[in-house]
Amino acid sequence: MKFFLDTADIKEIREAQETGLLDGITTNPSHVAKSGRNFIELVKEICELVPGPVSAEVTAEGKDEMLRQGRFLADLAPNVVVKVPLTQEGIKAVKVFSEEGIKTNVTLCFSSVQALLAAKVGATYISPFVGRVDDIGSEGMKTIFEIRKIYDNYGFTTQILTASTRSALHIQQAALAGSDVSTMPMALFKKLVNNPLTDIGLKLFDTDWNKIPEEYRTY
Ligand code: G3P
Repeated sequence: MKFFLDTADIKEIREAQETGLLDGITTNPSHVAKSGRNFIELVKEICELVPGPVSAEVTAEGKDEMLRQGRFLADLAPNVVVKVPLTQEGIKAVKVFSEEGIKTNVTLCFSSVQALLAAKVGATYISPFVGRVDDIGSEGMKTIFEIRKIYDNYGFTTQILTASTRSALHIQQAALAGSDVSTMPMALFKKLVNNPLTDIGLKLFDTDWNKIPEEYRTY
């Protein structure tokens, strides 16, 4: 499963890149607002920094303006993926983008039937939000399992990009469900390596190692 970072923060992107685990970036209007940066300059900078796919979202509501914005974004760098909301107009725009060879990430997906529509118009990625569904008392991860089944039933190649992840359990469950990608905030990306038993085990090994006479353990 590929790991994307859900951020528009350059410092976080650099830090995640050093781990060797980073495969791509997803941004959204909220992340861009938080960065305080010029949107286009920011997208260009992220695309230069990260060789993998970088999602940049259109903000228009109508198909024609979505197409104009998306084409503009796609021209910025070869690794731009145009992020489009899962609306009627968004679906129409994705159909055109697919015909033009422009990569898309269909966002704000909350059901497997919505994901089916995105695949039918050739979306590159579908982004079901799991955390926001959990937040309202439903089971967000169920959608990921359903989408995997539906896509496999019909041989759709749209990649499932599990989004709105909040915990290591989400990442584990997404991998078990066969999600192609998980995008996550930096705080979660950093947490994935942690396990208290690793820390306890390491401390014990260190203590035991120091019991060995120094001349026996120098190499
Ligand atoms: O970028 C889309 C998604 O990952 C947002 O997550 O935490 O705002 O629900 P969140």
